[in-house]
Amino acid sequence: MTSKTAQRLLIVSNRLPLRVVKEREGTWRLERGSGGLVTALAPVLRNRGGAWIGWPGVPAEKSSGNLSELMDKAGKDLGYRIVPVALSRREQRLFYEGFSNEVIWPLFHEFPSLAQFKPSYWDAYRSVNRKYAEIIASHSQSDHFIWIHDYQLMLVAQSLRDLGVQSHLAFFLHIPFPPLDVFLKLPWRLEVLRALLQYDLLGVQTARDRRNVIECFRALMPDVTWRGRGRVVVGQVNGRAVRVGDFPIAIDYRSFARRANAKEVLAVRDMIRAKLPDRKIILGVDRLDYTKGIPHRLEAYREALRRHPDLHGRTTLVQVVVPSRTGVPQYRRLRARIERLVGTINGEFTRPGWVPIHYIFRSLSPEELLGYYRAADIALITPLKDGMNLIAKEYCTTNVDNDGVLILSEFAGAASQLQNGAILVNPFHITEVADAIYFACTMPISERKRRMKKLRQVIRKQDIFWWVDSFLRSAFSKHLSEFPQLEEYMPLTSTS
Ligand code: F6P
Repeated sequence: MTSKTAQRLLIVSNRLPLRVVKEREGTWRLERGSGGLVTALAPVLRNRGGAWIGWPGVPAEKSSGNLSELMDKAGKDLGYRIVPVALSRREQRLFYEGFSNEVIWPLFHEFPSLAQFKPSYWDAYRSVNRKYAEIIASHSQSDHFIWIHDYQLMLVAQSLRDLGVQSHLAFFLHIPFPPLDVFLKLPWRLEVLRALLQYDLLGVQTARDRRNVIECFRALMPDVTWRGRGRVVVGQVNGRAVRVGDFPIAIDYRSFARRANAKEVLAVRDMIRAKLPDRKIILGVDRLDYTKGIPHRLEAYREALRRHPDLHGRTTLVQVVVPSRTGVPQYRRLRARIERLVGTINGEFTRPGWVPIHYIFRSLSPEELLGYYRAADIALITPLKDGMNLIAKEYCTTNVDNDGVLILSEFAGAASQLQNGAILVNPFHITEVADAIYFACTMPISERKRRMKKLRQVIRKQDIFWWVDSFLRSAFSKHLSEFPQLEEYMPLTSTS
């Protein structure tokens, strides 16, 4: 391994990979994060040494007591340092809820009319990005590989360069990058693009996102020249090279497939099935978000029930909605809209012994979630726009009997990898989704197995370890022609 590939890592994300839970005033407890990103990066961080920098999720005003002690201890247990970034209530409101989630989130998901382009939000975004950069700079050394994550932190590279940091800087955008005509609406579009050019590697989820980024650069920064074809292209900016590539994020396939057969999971599955005997269980699982298309989906199910009375009493839609970003007004309004619609549809169709929609508004424990995946005959995943959508991948992975069906929005990033086994739908087309539901409910077992095997094969091959490896590989390749086979590259993570 060359010295370059042995660089230590600094991972930076808006939130730390830990959940802070309040026990009582001034006393906190930490729960370990279990997402794919932590699973994949933890072994790399432990092997190379490094730190994870991010916001603990509680306002600075409240974070006294034993919190910093707990973070130090968590770092020792995890084998890498945990560095908290304290954000005040005001910063949380203007930077996190404001610019991140009322400007970038709606705009990048192509809901420009929802974006609130307030200058105070932009000021807070700039100053919080600067704050992250100062903390990173104080923990970084020249041999660090600094990997920054997501839309909350797009300007960090610019501030780091201003602070004189010369390290290799990489960025991964977990959400979509919008097309040019949408991006142009951003009043601070040039500042954002200029800052993104300060990264050495810019990763996005899909080829479409990559094309969008390049189109925006070409239109707004004509001095940058681009070359290369395929997954990674290179821009030349004042003698520096910036790579832009697509790297579809993934899950820990083996772990999900193994946990699908855990005793607790099977108990939940059996309990759900016993309560809903002889039904096709259709499952939707989403964070509460207008990008997820939940009202459209409920309307599509209503349309399927109207068109196909043979589905009455024989299907149940279980819709799980996980509370999220409750400080943002649009999210509160959406909840009310969903709940009204569930009530209206259940009011129209319920009869003794059958309620068509089971609605759950809370987080599920991992065992419950896997139990629902195992019980479901069909996953109905119809976001209006989604960076990737890992629920689609998790559902297929835990479908170890290969007999489930995935109905997937063509506007989920996952569609680019899963198009050969899923039923792809346009989530805005209510009757098309209704027909897809009927098609899925009546699909013969041989076709279900054929499709599901294909899906699981892709998800197994392109798992989270593959994702980290291919990202780091393209960061360290000397020439584009070396991608994806590089002499100096050695797998940095392991699935064993
Ligand atoms: O998909 C983008 C993302 O920021 C994820 O990283 C995160 O899990 C999710 O949205 C929820 O975000 P928040 O941190 O705002 O709760």
